[in-house]
Amino acid sequence: MAAPHAPRTDDWWRDAVIYQVYPRSFADGDGDGTGDLAGVRARLPYLAELGVDAVWFTPWYASPLVDGGYDVADYRTIDPAFGTLAEAEKLIAEAAALDLRVIVDIVPNHVSDQHTWFQAALAAGPGSAERERFHFRPGRGENGELPPNNWPSQFSGPTWTRVPDGEWYLHLFTPEQPDLNWAHPEVRQEHEDVLRFWFERGVAGVRIDSAALLAKDPALADFEEGVDPHPYIDQDELHDIYRSWRAIADEYGGVFVGEVWLPDAERFARYLRPDELHTAFNFTFLSCPWEPGRLRRTIDDTLAEHAPVGAPATWVLCNHDVTRTVTRYGRDDTGFDFAAKRFGTPTDLALGSRRARAAALLTLALPGSVYLYQGEELGLPEAEIPLDRIQDPMHFRSGGTDPGRDGCRVPLPWEADAPYCGFGAGAVPWLPQPEDWAQYAVDRQSADAASMLALYRQALRLRRAEPGFGDGPMRWLPAEEGVLAFARPGGVICVVNLSAAPAGLPPHRELLLASGPLGADGTLPPDTAVWLRAADGA
Ligand code: NOJ
Repeated sequence: MAAPHAPRTDDWWRDAVIYQVYPRSFADGDGDGTGDLAGVRARLPYLAELGVDAVWFTPWYASPLVDGGYDVADYRTIDPAFGTLAEAEKLIAEAAALDLRVIVDIVPNHVSDQHTWFQAALAAGPGSAERERFHFRPGRGENGELPPNNWPSQFSGPTWTRVPDGEWYLHLFTPEQPDLNWAHPEVRQEHEDVLRFWFERGVAGVRIDSAALLAKDPALADFEEGVDPHPYIDQDELHDIYRSWRAIADEYGGVFVGEVWLPDAERFARYLRPDELHTAFNFTFLSCPWEPGRLRRTIDDTLAEHAPVGAPATWVLCNHDVTRTVTRYGRDDTGFDFAAKRFGTPTDLALGSRRARAAALLTLALPGSVYLYQGEELGLPEAEIPLDRIQDPMHFRSGGTDPGRDGCRVPLPWEADAPYCGFGAGAVPWLPQPEDWAQYAVDRQSADAASMLALYRQALRLRRAEPGFGDGPMRWLPAEEGVLAFARPGGVICVVNLSAAPAGLPPHRELLLASGPLGADGTLPPDTAVWLRAADGA
């Protein structure tokens, strides 16, 4: 196992590699077919050996799991399917002993309909104080039979559901996820208490779900295409909320990463001002097709938009909501677009895998921090889930046209020859693993120097050893058409060939790492990346 390492600076988060664990699918310790904290604890040495700095857990709290745990019934309890609070505390301590920090996921926009607040609101009826914590309204139309406004959902389908007494409540996601009223002081107070609850337990950071959606236009006015401001995305009030959160995080030395999907770079950067969130996910990069000009522009824009607020960029290729990288890059249109998710898209997995390998070296060489989604290091493709096993509400709410997100949430393969590839020894996993899953198993890849896992292990080791990587400047180097080449301080160069022809390499003293074999003449084949040590060491 790799020796535990000391962080380079106190600002560990400025250049960290953060591994995302989807607990339900990571490892099943008790053999019931669902991943759990016992499974994670047993596999912490794997994460330490991989060489990541922190682990972000998607929600592990008590939840009916209607939306994979993003429907939280109680923030202070671990879902019994995953374990207990005492186990979570042990996990945080065991991770710390391996120099792994823990990041938890807070979902402030909504709660589960099973949350005591919502149950109380239903019971208390119209006009009650309990309903004030949510957005309950009478309907429109003669008998209130129409929803209070026309707001589009973040998932397909309506955003309002009517309760038996005739009132409607707002839910930007499923009806089982009622939106909280962030103008209510108790909503604010409760979340501040929840933040403290987890910081007190030693977590290093918090990922904020749907971070730009919490505040709503108080009039709940209709949405009009193209008219600003949007009634529920990126309302100015949010910044005040995050300033008070930041003050709490600062007491504990904790950090935030916001899930902020916003096309406007200037508005995005506001969330990263020094007294607000430390970081936010860079979804522009994730959504960018495998195309040299657009990638370069995205990288430049990202760095330019972060610079004025002094925040480090984050680089993300994959998460539990999007088509897996290998599959995406194996398709004609490799940019990620929720609306374009469909069944049966032709995919060239060999091409996707080559590109994903190159993209890994590109991403890990860029200035800032990197998020790695479980299974990305194994090169897992998106799995096809049989229709009768699909669980994701996104699929059902689309009327069955959208395959949903289960394909990137399939239980991990650990041991090629064990039942369910070593995910867990007992019951059938909650989502089926494809028949060819064994080839991706950790044990098989550990024994193969050319595997995706071997590439990630080497890249993470080098990234940690080379002081020029992580936070800091980068400089584009002259390169052939379709080739991206840049230098980091200390003389490390990254070259990525996105053209259709082999490319020459800049002068260098040493080949540090290659995402695939070089040409016999030393050229860089298409869809391949290398890390080099510059000839002059500068
Ligand atoms: C974003 C999360 O990543 C996603 O999985 C979830 O469905 C929505 N927010 C709603 O919480």
